[in-house]
Amino acid sequence: MPAAVCDAAGVPERPVVLLLSGPNLNLLGERDPAIYGTATLAEHVATAAAAATAAGLDLEHLQSNHEGDLIDAIHAARGRCAAIVVNPGALTHYAWSLHDALDAFDGPVVELHLSDPKQREPWRHLSVVEPVADRTVAGLGGDGYRIAVEVVADLLDRP
Ligand code: DQA
Repeated sequence: MPAAVCDAAGVPERPVVLLLSGPNLNLLGERDPAIYGTATLAEHVATAAAAATAAGLDLEHLQSNHEGDLIDAIHAARGRCAAIVVNPGALTHYAWSLHDALDAFDGPVVELHLSDPKQREPWRHLSVVEPVADRTVAGLGGDGYRIAVEVVADLLDRP
């Protein structure tokens, strides 16, 4: 996770957007390319970072296969990060602890998926993150990473 550039008081110079990637997303590029495409997670993160820079935002990224790591990162973002973009992977569909952690975050939350889970198997139709997300970006493939950051910029009223 690259550190934000801070001023002398340790306050980030530009609003920080935290991008979180849940379980199995580290396998993007190899995993189910017919559904998720061939781009790697690093490529998606680079896309999101470029969109953040264009909007005057800094981007930090964490991928974890462990629910608790993501929850800890959301807690640590409270009062420090301006917004969260989260692709929770399969945690989307059952991780109520993730729902509660995001609910306790003050800034905008954008839920992001490469595929459109609502068009897939019935067990993917429920998102426990959706009720605490300001927006959901789904089914747009890799473009979703750019668009999710643009949505955040809009919600933060950035140019
Ligand atoms: C996903 C959709 C989830 O249902 C799935 O478990 C994933 C990826 C997506 O980006 O389309 O791991 O979040």
